[in-house]
Amino acid sequence: MKEIDIKDLNKYVDPLATEHDPAIVMVSDENETNGMTIGWAGFGVLWKKLMATVYIHKLRYSKHIFDNAKYYAICYMKPEHKDVVKYFGTVSGKDEDKIKNCGLEVVYDLAPYFKDARAVVICRIMGQSDFDINHVDEGVKNWYQLEGVHSQYYGEIVKILVD
Ligand SMILES: Cc1cc2nc3c(=O)[nH]c(=O)nc-3n(C[C@H](O)[C@H](O)[C@H](O)COP(=O)(O)O)c2cc1C
Repeated sequence: MKEIDIKDLNKYVDPLATEHDPAIVMVSDENETNGMTIGWAGFGVLWKKLMATVYIHKLRYSKHIFDNAKYYAICYMKPEHKDVVKYFGTVSGKDEDKIKNCGLEVVYDLAPYFKDARAVVICRIMGQSDFDINHVDEGVKNWYQLEGVHSQYYGEIVKILVD
């Protein structure tokens, strides 16, 4: 993969893409590496930095790894790896070693990522917060009352790799 200028993100990645083209976010701490499919990601500017925020639910196995990680990598996959995207979004790392089972090579550059992804956005975690259940839309509140809230991880985009 080759590194591109962060300002050229839009040429390679549609910031709204995860709605119809989910990505896999990869994360590791000192002990564990895992990945999970994400349909939500917020690209924008915060603290004078270009950011890609991800929303990780409390129930996800990845959550405790995010809490100890310094970086994460949002991996946009090729069409032929749709089954891998599905696998990372339907099976939990608490039950299976998804990276071992998926058949794709994972390499490291600040964060783990798929060597064969079509684009990878590597982010440095600058902060995190949880949604406040008392200050969300009623529809969202009903959902969160049943399952608990998402945590937001605010990541500064530090590197973008493309195939
Ligand atoms: C298309 C799709 C999009 C998803 N988007 C998110 C998301 O943005 N945030 C989230 O917390 N879970 C999301 N999920 C659910 C997780 O990917 C799923 O629960 C996964 O198994 C969690 O893996 P883990 O337990 O190994 O962390 C999504 C699942 C799918 C299939």
